Amino acid sequence: MREDLARAREEMASEALARARCLEQIGTKVAHELKNPLTAVKALVQLGVRNPSEAPSHERLQVVEKEVARIQEILAGYLSFTRPLQEVRPERTELRPLVADALLALSARADQASVQLSSQGDATVEADPRRIKEAILNLVANAIEATPPGGEVVVEVRSLGDHAEIAVRDKGRGMPAETVKRLGTPFFSTREEGTGLGVVLARSVVAQHGGSLRYDSEPGRGTTATVTLPARPPSRCRDAARAAR
Ligand SMILES: Nc1ncnc2c1ncn2[C@@H]1O[C@H](COP(=O)(O)OP(=O)(O)OP(=O)(O)O)[C@@H](O)[C@H]1O
Ligand SMILES: [Mg+2]
Repeated sequence: MREDLARAREEMASEALARARCLEQIGTKVAHELKNPLTAVKALVQLGVRNPSEAPSHERLQVVEKEVARIQEILAGYLSFTRPLQEVRPERTELRPLVADALLALSARADQASVQLSSQGDATVEADPRRIKEAILNLVANAIEATPPGGEVVVEVRSLGDHAEIAVRDKGRGMPAETVKRLGTPFFSTREEGTGLGVVLARSVVAQHGGSLRYDSEPGRGTTATVTLPARPPSRCRDAARAAR
């Protein structure tokens, strides 16, 4: 039973890693091919918006400008998780202050949604603090979005010997099994304003550290997203980090 679990966890981690690698390639390609033409389109649209003789089209041009900005945002989202492995720079990282920082960054959003944020526990791992914080931010943001006013989101950190766990719990709307299955597919979102990149980013960051991201969810009862991180990342990451210094 234990071996089965360990094997399943390993399979999930290597699957996530393969997916992350594939996304890295797509992301880099998309970025290179779309960034420059988009900048040109944006500059031309902005010229049009400023040109009085194009006044009748101003409103429409502004819509185009907004949409171009949105595409750029999506690209930036991709680029932020397509950095090569070298850019994972593991260092001794205390998770408690890192989680506190992430919660602080989301406090205005939580206040607006009347959702209370709290955290407990601590663990120290070798990880890239900036990237792990990015992952936690995305998971907590999702938990806030799923929680009705008056609810709470709790982040629990645990040290379990050779690995650490960060569990983000909400008692919000939860997800049916089909949604859980589709989590981590680029651009899968059930929110009108969502880009569907949050979980992809989180999963890719965690996989780059040799860890995994697991979801337990039940419609109407809530969701727990659990990040498992090895206390020390695989030597591949450490070597790459050393080489990059
Ligand atoms: N804690 C959660 N509770 C309920 N549904 C969730 C939770 N986390 C993720 N989801 C579902 O998974 C989908 C994908 O999440 P993801 O973070 O990848 O994208 P998003 O939040 O829609 O957009 P964004 O890219 O802006 O984060 C969400 O639209 C939502 O349906
Ligand atoms: Mg999200």
